Amino acid sequence: MAKITKAVIPAAGLGTRFLPATKAVPKEMIPIVDRPTIQYIIEEAAQAGITDLLIITSRTKKAIEDHFDKSYELETELEKSGKTALLEEMKQIRSMMNIQYVRQAEPKGLGHAIYCAKSFVGNEPFAVLLGDDVVYSQKPCLLQMIEKFEEYQASILGVQSVAQSEVSKYGIVSGEQVSDRMWRVHDMVEKPKQEEAPTNVAVLGRYIIMPEIFEHLEKTKPGAGGEIQLTDALKTLAKEQEMYAYDFVGRRYDVGNKMGFLEATVEYALRREDLSEDFIKYLKQLVNR
Ligand code: G1P
Repeated sequence: MAKITKAVIPAAGLGTRFLPATKAVPKEMIPIVDRPTIQYIIEEAAQAGITDLLIITSRTKKAIEDHFDKSYELETELEKSGKTALLEEMKQIRSMMNIQYVRQAEPKGLGHAIYCAKSFVGNEPFAVLLGDDVVYSQKPCLLQMIEKFEEYQASILGVQSVAQSEVSKYGIVSGEQVSDRMWRVHDMVEKPKQEEAPTNVAVLGRYIIMPEIFEHLEKTKPGAGGEIQLTDALKTLAKEQEMYAYDFVGRRYDVGNKMGFLEATVEYALRREDLSEDFIKYLKQLVNR
């Protein structure tokens, strides 16, 4: 039975929704509390059993590679000064999995970015995690999806319902329910107008995809926003083989959006044992002012 050990994180986007912060700093490096957002995503992948990761980057994303590399000076300094816990944390960050990088030379869309992973992926099903979608859940979102993959042996899209007013931001799926939280996908549309959306079930940044997707990506013409869309290639793949949508359990934050980022910052801080007590006190004082 095919096992999912490879994942791809597209991280070549310009981050225009978060300017000016993202002018010189990759949006994936903006921290929630004290870790870059991409670290949360990679931790989720590691907890789901991913061992090999490809990050699709671009010219301005060097900081991502530095973050997951060994910093000699820092580790030597931490060792000398006896800061063992911090040293261990730094080592842990760089040893979560094998990470490779490839650059997407031009911003031609998510579908094109995934196509850059073709030779890394080879002929295996693989996971895709989008950096703007951070998910908090007891059982990591990707692990939930891998368990479903083991059962269904087909592409699985991670979905949740969104407000009708939000459908035009997402890939929207339609299909028939086959079991608890699972739908067989019949059709998909990227960023439909509110009045044209078939449902309000949105793909939220987690995918398990069969390798045949690359044949479809090759033929996919630019779609919504003039970009080569992953959704369009998935739509044609779904006509050819079974594809499922799984309504994952968890709180998902759109950290590429200012409001979503603020919600994530507050809620992750509240979950931190070392911060929550003081932070709650502060928030209470603030609202009672
Ligand atoms: C991308 C995908 C879209 C998906 C969304 C999830 O859009 O194209 O299908 O629903 O991520 O966050 P983006 O947010 O990159 O515009």
